[in-house]
Amino acid sequence: MCKHHFGADDPSAAMDVTQAREVLPTNVKPVHYNLTLEPDFDKFTYEGQVVIDLDVVEDTTSISLNTNQVTIHSAKVSSGDQVVSSSPTIAHDEATQTTKFGFDQTISGGSKASLTLDFSGILNDNMAGFYRSSCKAEDGSTAYLATTQMEPTDARRAFPCFDEPALKAEFTVTLVADDKMTCLSNMDVASETTVDSKVTGGKRKAVTFNKTPLMSTYLLAFIIGELNYIETTSFRVPVRVYAPKDRDIEHGRFSLELAARTLDFYEKTFDSPFPLPKMDMIAIPDFSAGAMENWGLVTYRVVDLLIDEKVSGASVKQRVAEVVQHELAHQWFGNLVTMDFWDGLWLNEGFATWMSWYSCNVFYPDWKVWEGYVTDNLASALSLDSLRSSHPIEVPVKRADEINQIFDAISYSKGSCVLRMISKYLGEDIFMEGIRRYLKKHAYGNTQTGDLWAALADASGKDVEKVMDIWTKKVGFPVVTVTEGTDSIHVKQNRFLRTADVKPEEDETLFPVFLALRTAEGVDEELALTTREADFKVKDLDFFKLNADHSGLYRTSYSPERLHKLGVAAKQGLLTVEDRAGMIADAGALASSGYQKTSGILSLLDSFKSEKEFVVWVEIGSRISVLRSAWQFEDQAVKDALRKFQLDLCSDKAHELGWTFSDKDGHIEQQFKAMMFGTAGVAKDKTIVKAAFDMFNKFKAGDSSAIHPNLRGSVYGIVLSNGGKEEYDTILDQATKAKTVDERNTALRVLGRAKDPELIQRTLALSLSDEVKAQDIYLPISALRTHPEGIEALWKWVQDNWDELERRLPPGLTMLSSVVSLTTSSFTHKEHIKQIEAFFSTKSTKGFDKALAQCIDAISAKAAWIERDSDDVKGWLKEHGYLQ
Ligand code: BES
Ligand code: ZN
Repeated sequence: MCKHHFGADDPSAAMDVTQAREVLPTNVKPVHYNLTLEPDFDKFTYEGQVVIDLDVVEDTTSISLNTNQVTIHSAKVSSGDQVVSSSPTIAHDEATQTTKFGFDQTISGGSKASLTLDFSGILNDNMAGFYRSSCKAEDGSTAYLATTQMEPTDARRAFPCFDEPALKAEFTVTLVADDKMTCLSNMDVASETTVDSKVTGGKRKAVTFNKTPLMSTYLLAFIIGELNYIETTSFRVPVRVYAPKDRDIEHGRFSLELAARTLDFYEKTFDSPFPLPKMDMIAIPDFSAGAMENWGLVTYRVVDLLIDEKVSGASVKQRVAEVVQHELAHQWFGNLVTMDFWDGLWLNEGFATWMSWYSCNVFYPDWKVWEGYVTDNLASALSLDSLRSSHPIEVPVKRADEINQIFDAISYSKGSCVLRMISKYLGEDIFMEGIRRYLKKHAYGNTQTGDLWAALADASGKDVEKVMDIWTKKVGFPVVTVTEGTDSIHVKQNRFLRTADVKPEEDETLFPVFLALRTAEGVDEELALTTREADFKVKDLDFFKLNADHSGLYRTSYSPERLHKLGVAAKQGLLTVEDRAGMIADAGALASSGYQKTSGILSLLDSFKSEKEFVVWVEIGSRISVLRSAWQFEDQAVKDALRKFQLDLCSDKAHELGWTFSDKDGHIEQQFKAMMFGTAGVAKDKTIVKAAFDMFNKFKAGDSSAIHPNLRGSVYGIVLSNGGKEEYDTILDQATKAKTVDERNTALRVLGRAKDPELIQRTLALSLSDEVKAQDIYLPISALRTHPEGIEALWKWVQDNWDELERRLPPGLTMLSSVVSLTTSSFTHKEHIKQIEAFFSTKSTKGFDKALAQCIDAISAKAAWIERDSDDVKGWLKEHGYLQ
C-alpha cells in the first residue's frame, strides 16, 4: 500500500491536497436514493434494495460506486423507460471498496439513468455501517437494536452508494420491521404500510420516511429497536431523546431541554433555520465514538447523553453539555455546509468544537469555559503539534484507514484554536457575520478552507487568507523568543519541537503570529510578527506579556528574570486566568523540551501556591503529573521527592477548600474541590487518604451517599493505590452493579491503580472479558499507566493479545489507535522504543501508523528530557529540602 508520510520536511504537506484523493469516476452523479432495508435479528443480517437516480454527465458504459462487505444479488441499469441492462457485469475492487457495473449499450451524457440493486449485508458487531447493539430486555435476556455509524466511510458498508462527502443527494428511506420496533431515520415518518417480509415470510410494517434535503452519505442514519422517548415542544420543531428500554429515560431530560435551547440559539445566531422537521437524539449502548451528528438523528454513547444529576458530578454534566452542543453545531457546520473532502475535516470538527464552547459560554456563563480552553483544547493542540509526526490541519488523505486517523487533536483542537485566533483578531461579532455569510452562500453545498476565509474577508474587509492560510496548510507552530532592549522588545520565531532537535529545513515556515501584547495600558490586538524576527516598541518594560489570554497558537520563551517578574505580576492581579495558566503551560513545555531548565518551572510552580483559580490549578496539576510520569522509571528517592513537592504544593489549597459539598457551591467550585482532593490524595496527603478510606468504608457498609459524586473517582483511586484486594473487589462489584453508566465507568476507570501483580492481571483480563463492551476496552487499562508495574504489564498484554485486539477493534475505527497509544506511550526510555519498533515491525500498522509514530516521538522526547535535566531536577529538589 502506498502510504503518505506527513513529516514536516515532506513537500507534499504543502501541495494541493485534492491531488491525493482517491475518488469515484465522475461520469455519473447520484441525485436520489430510494433505499429499503429489513434486518434479521436472528441471523444478524439484513436484506436491502436501493434505486439510485443518476445524472449522466458524459457518455457512459459503466457505473462505479462504493461497497464494502455487502453482497449484490441482482442489478439493473435503466435510462428513462428503457432497461439498458438487466444483468450488467459486476466487478468488485477490495482495495478501493468499489464495485463497477458494466454494460454494452452507451447511455449518453446529459441524460438520466437509474441503478437498481438488491443486496444483503451483515448486521455486524463492529460498530460500523449498519450494525447491532445490545442491551438488557425486561426479562433479563439480551435485546438487540440495529443502528448505524457511517462517518467517515462506512455508509458503503450499509448499502451501495457514492460514498463521498461532495456527492450529495436526496434520500428516501424505508425500514421494514416487527410492529413492536420503533423505526427512526433522519426525517419524520411519511407513511406506514404492511408488506410481505423478506425475512420472516409473514407480514411486517414498512415505515417510509420523508425525503431528506440534499445531504452527504456519511450523515445518513437508520435505527430499529425497542425504545422509549421523551419529547419537548419548546423549540420550533419537536425534539426527542430516545433510549433503549433498560435505561431511565428521564435521564435524558437535561440533554433534551439543552438541545431545544441550543437549536433555537444556533438558528438565530447563524440566521439559518434548522431545516428538518424534527430532531431526535438517541443513546446507543455500543458506540465507537462519543457521538455522531447524523442530520436530524444524532446518536450518542449512553454516558454522553443520559445523566442522573443526583449521581453524577459537575464535570460529567459539562461533558454532556459539550457533546450535545457540539453535535448540534454540526447540523449547520458539516451537515448543511459540508467539507469538500476529508482533508477539510477541520471545517467540521474544528468549528463544532469552537462553537460548542461559544454556546456553552452563553448558556452557562458561570462555568467560564473559555478560561478552561487554555488547559484543554489549546493544550492538546500544542501537545500533539509539537511532535515531528504531527500533520498539517489540511492533510492529504485517501483511504478509510488514513481518514480515520485525522479525527485527532489537530482537526479538533488545533482546528478550533485557529478559529479562536481569527475570531479574536476580527472580533467575535464580525467573525459571526462572516459565518452567516459563509452558511448562506454554501447551504446544501461543499466547501474548502478558502471559502471560509473568503466569507470572513467579505465580512471584515481584511485579507484573512493571508494571515490564516499557513496555519492550516503547514505543520507545527512557533516558539517566540523574547529578548529585551531599553525601550523595545525583540521577538524571534522558530519551529517548536518537543524533541528540541529542529533541523533547518524543518524551520522554514514563517507563521503570521498575533502578538497580542499586554501592557498596563491594555492589549494591542493589531501587532503581528510576520517575519522571522522584529523589534517592537514598548512604552514601559516594567510589565508586559505576549499572547494575551493565549488565543495564539504558539509558545513564548522569556528570560528567567522576566518569567520571575511575570510570576510577581500574576500575584498583583495584572494577568488574567488564561494568562496565568498559559504562562505556566508554556514554561512547562519549554522545560520538558530543552528550551529552558526544568528547575525554572519547578520554581515557578512553587511561587503559585497562593493561586486562587481553578483553571490555573488544573495547569499546575498537569505540569506536575507530566513531570512525575516522565520520571516514573527513575530512582525511587527522586520520585518520592517529586511526590513530596506535589504534596507541599497542593495540600494547603486542598484543605482550605475542603471536600464537603453544599448546594451553594458553584459549578467551578465543585470541580475545584474535587480536583484538589484528588491531587493531594494521589500525593498521599495523610488526612485526605484517611478521609477517603472513611468515606469508602461507610459506602461499603451500605451508605450509598457516603461518597459525593464529585469525589467518587478520587476516593476509589486513593483506596486502590493504598489498599488491596478487598477494595478492588468492592469497586469491581460497583462496576458490574452500578445503575448508571457514569458510575460504572468511574469504577472501571480506576481499577488499574491497583499495583498488586495479581490485581493487575485481573484488570487486564477484565478489559477483554464479556463484562466490558468493546467500546469500553480503554477504561480498565487506562489507570495502569499510573505506575511502572502497570506500564510494563500493559505492554506485555498488548503483545500477547494482539491478534485478539486486531479482531475486536477493526482498523477502520479509531479505537485500535487509542489502545496502541495507551499501551506504549507511557514508556520513557530509548530501550522501550526499540522494543516497540521491533514488535510492530512484523505487523500491519494500518489504521494506527500515525498514533504509533506519535507515541515513539513522545517517548524520545521524554528520554531526552530525563537525560538533559535529571541532575537539574535533583539539584532543585535537594536545594528545596525534598531530597537528601
Ligand atoms: N463526527 C464526530 C464523530 C466521529 C468521530 C465520527 C470519529 C467518526 C470518527 C462527532 O461530531 C464528534 O466529534 N464527537 C466527539 C464528541 C465531541 C464533543 C468532541 C466524540 O466522539 O468524542
Ligand atoms: Zn464533531
